[in-house]
Amino acid sequence: QGPEAETFTDAETGIVFNRWGVPADSGRTQGGFTFGMALPSDALSVDANEFIGYLECASKDATSTGWCGVSMGGPMTNSLLLAAYPHEDEVFTTLRYASGYAMPDVYSGNAKLTQVTSRVNSTHYSLIFRCQNCLQWDHEGRTGGASTSGGFLVLGWVQAFDAPGNPTCPDQITIGQHDNGMGIFGAVLNADAANPSYTAWAAKATKTPT
Ligand code: HEM
Repeated sequence: QGPEAETFTDAETGIVFNRWGVPADSGRTQGGFTFGMALPSDALSVDANEFIGYLECASKDATSTGWCGVSMGGPMTNSLLLAAYPHEDEVFTTLRYASGYAMPDVYSGNAKLTQVTSRVNSTHYSLIFRCQNCLQWDHEGRTGGASTSGGFLVLGWVQAFDAPGNPTCPDQITIGQHDNGMGIFGAVLNADAANPSYTAWAAKATKTPT
């Protein structure tokens, strides 16, 4: 996976993303991992504090299970973390923050995640979501952020095989240490990352799974 983004248009919603991935044949994660981002129209000159995200993660051996995550700052620690997992027909999410390499806390800041679309099949699950207040974070006074105006982000990814416990209560899930790859990558934003249609796309994020 290189830092250069690939421009990708989601067929169902028409949302245009910059995306980066770890291919299934890379030997770094079974099934592959993809993360994408669409940003407000002025995000390449003014730091944005929200984005529309695209996640596509893999389940082990066609079991429709597992969880995956993104770190908005790169490392697991001191960054806003997003974990996602399939459960029945839905993809659930939980925003987290970790000060050490142990089970992350529920994020205490005011970030808000709403879904546009989600898909689950036996081998993969994917989610398009709006994440508001997700690029500057404050967890009990510990602050940080990711700057979009510089055109370059440092992100982290992780995948795990086992399904979380307590799946219908995202803030009370139990998980073990991830075991299907992880990494930190540089993500260069190209001119397609920021789009005048952002506001219209963001308005499609109306779902929260229950
Ligand atoms: C890396 C433990 C949950 C994201 C690591 C490492 C450990 C660890 C020990 C470093 C491993 C190495 O360098 O070889 C755990 C445990 C967890 C957990 C025990 C839960 C019980 C999560 C969650 C996320 C996450 C929920 C994101 C949503 C990452 C990322 C890395 C990482 C992106 C790679 C970057 C880095 O080394 O900081 N984790 N983790 N982890 N973890 Fe976790």
